[in-house]
Amino acid sequence: MPKLIVVTNQKGGVGKTTLAVHLAYAAAETGGQVLVVDFCGQGNASQFLTRDLRINKRRGGAEMLFSDGVDLPYTDTPMDNVKVLHGHLYLEELDTQKEDLLKVAIKIRAKVRSLPFDYVIFDTPPALGPRIASPLLWSDTALLTVQPLLSSITGLDDTFDTIRAVQRVNKALNVQMVVNLFTKSSKTQREFREALQQKFGRSIVEEFSLRTPVSDALQNFRPVWSHARDKKLGRHWKDFANRILDVTV
Ligand SMILES: Nc1ncnc2c1ncn2[C@@H]1O[C@H](COP(=O)(O)OP(=O)(O)OP(=O)(O)O)[C@@H](O)[C@H]1O
Ligand SMILES: [Mg+2]
Repeated sequence: MPKLIVVTNQKGGVGKTTLAVHLAYAAAETGGQVLVVDFCGQGNASQFLTRDLRINKRRGGAEMLFSDGVDLPYTDTPMDNVKVLHGHLYLEELDTQKEDLLKVAIKIRAKVRSLPFDYVIFDTPPALGPRIASPLLWSDTALLTVQPLLSSITGLDDTFDTIRAVQRVNKALNVQMVVNLFTKSSKTQREFREALQQKFGRSIVEEFSLRTPVSDALQNFRPVWSHARDKKLGRHWKDFANRILDVTV
């Protein structure tokens, strides 16, 4: 049975894709079989992993998980052990079938949880709906990415409402929070960081600052630990990913 991890938050631009892709790279380095399911219409994770920048223009990716009796249309990546069910612009169509889709998501839960991989990593779109709720229903771990900004924090209550609803079915879902894109020199951000600590202290498992080599690494189709000259920065990300993946080194 794979380890299933969903990276989510209804807020855009907080680093969901950056985290999901780094988890995929770290999982690939274990030698295990890795599947990335990209439920985001932008398909950024799919682009980074397959290096096909037009992949988000075609159907036949993540939505196929919901179809019965079909061979899943995995896309290969330059890494032998990493496959993608890609994200694309038409995934929005799933959102119109909200309740029905969630019923299907519950029905196929056992199937998804026994996909023939060691790691299944879900990236999600920046909007609450079935493309966030479904992977939450299936996963072992939800990584909630937050930025210490008013706009990121105000949406959290809604995200937690969804998580609580999902936990009625997926009781073992383990919710962990990652603070990302933190600029410590900003007094305002420090105050929001402190507010997050007060409210969610026990769930916060990591804090990453805004560091350009992190975004540069993905633009070069590499994880930050293979790209950055700053070895400490690379180790920070790799150690975090291994911890989330339960990899002992
Ligand atoms: N720790 C970081 N340091 C520097 N840049 C970062 C960091 N995390 C994310 N970024 C950059 O911030 C931007 C948003 O990140 P990303 O695309 O991962 O967010 P997202 O939550 O997936 O966004 P969306 O909701 O649009 O899918 C990207 O340009 C990314 O490279
Ligand atoms: Mg994204």
